[in-house]
Amino acid sequence: MADIPTTPRGNWDSKLGFILAAAGSAVGLGNIWRFPTEAASNGGAAFLLIYLACCFLIGFPVMIAEMSIGRSSKKNPVGAFRSLSTNKFFPLVGIWGVLCGVMILSFYTVIAGWTFSHVFVEIFVYAEMFEVASFLADFENGYVNAVFAILFMACTIGIIRGGVSNGIERATKLMMPMLLIILVIMTVYVLFQPGAGEGIEIYLYPDFSMIDMELILAAMGQAFFSLSLGMGAIITYGSYLGKKENIAEAAGFVTLADVGIAFLAGLLILPTIYMAQAEGVQIFDAEGNFLAGPALIFQLLPELFAQMGGITGLLFGVLFFSLLSIAALTSTISLLEVPVSYVIDEHKIKRKSAALYVGLGILVISLIISFNTALIDTIDFTFSVIGLPLGGLLICIFLGYVWKTENAIEEIKHGYENVKDTFFAKAWTVFVKFVCPLIILIILIQTIYNNYFSS
Ligand code: TRP
Repeated sequence: MADIPTTPRGNWDSKLGFILAAAGSAVGLGNIWRFPTEAASNGGAAFLLIYLACCFLIGFPVMIAEMSIGRSSKKNPVGAFRSLSTNKFFPLVGIWGVLCGVMILSFYTVIAGWTFSHVFVEIFVYAEMFEVASFLADFENGYVNAVFAILFMACTIGIIRGGVSNGIERATKLMMPMLLIILVIMTVYVLFQPGAGEGIEIYLYPDFSMIDMELILAAMGQAFFSLSLGMGAIITYGSYLGKKENIAEAAGFVTLADVGIAFLAGLLILPTIYMAQAEGVQIFDAEGNFLAGPALIFQLLPELFAQMGGITGLLFGVLFFSLLSIAALTSTISLLEVPVSYVIDEHKIKRKSAALYVGLGILVISLIISFNTALIDTIDFTFSVIGLPLGGLLICIFLGYVWKTENAIEEIKHGYENVKDTFFAKAWTVFVKFVCPLIILIILIQTIYNNYFSS
């Protein structure tokens, strides 16, 4: 049934459009909110090192896998597994991916709402209307959280209703370079502040004794989250990709752009954390455990803008939170696009209604989270840290042993003609069939063992 084309599927207008949309999906709160917080709570440089290894050794090959599955099948994740093999199990992996996407989007919307509300917080601080500012900045206030989550979901739904090239492509083009520029300026500013040294040292000089299973799992989860892998977002985006484009090159660019922005964000935020600590803000408890919750950067960065002061502080504050909101938006649209494309393809519902109903359904979960922000950590751990690598593992197994790497290489050939005999093709085959699944499997099994069977 899934093979009968019903609704015309969209296409990217240009190669740049696809790369920008995929990079837009990757670059988001994961880079600027999640990565620095994870790095700070897992010993800084040791985490950075393992994270980089996970991105290049696991993330990059899995991204190529997802792109080739998507472009070859021209389907949503569930339909893709169904159309490339007769195996009955793998469509369930697609469904698991859709579920992970739904759950990740539900809390992501709340945090994206904080980003958006801070644009206004900055303005009210400048206007010296401190009561309004602190009312809006109160993360414990479920009503404020809910209002901004609703606004954010409304924007996401609006863009997804616009369709592939019209909505997604246009939204990304300007914002990526702008975010990069402002991030560089802020990082340079922070690095010249007194007290930045300790943060830089912790971020760049690894203490190898910090590396344990918990850190490795966190770094792997972060790599999948940040690169938007493991739940079919890149399968879906790949399904709109033309045959002329070079998949390996696109995946390389997206990985580098994403890792580069995360690295930069760490260089900005870790020193900021240690500067705040030097000023008496309590960040670690007596045992050295990270105290700060998910709201950390939303408390520290406004301090930084206040320190810049006056109109400069206002300008940077408003610009930074606006750009971060747009970066978050290009990520939420990729998260919503997965369940929406599933509903469009498999249940033959029109894009406009599919986007609306699926979006509203997810918003209900976001509203529950708005009033119970403690849920964020649990959902994030279950669906990002465990769920995404598990999805990635199954994608590798599917590609390597069910669909077969030879077929994937045939697909990659479009846009990369002589790929077949390259070192890249050989290395990629080994990684997808052996290295990636094995590493992911070992880390997941160790985690389950540590959590449930060892006392
Ligand atoms: N990668 C995005 C970020 O870093 C979040 C995201 C978008 C995502 N789409 C995804 C995470 C799909 C996992 C899967 O903010």
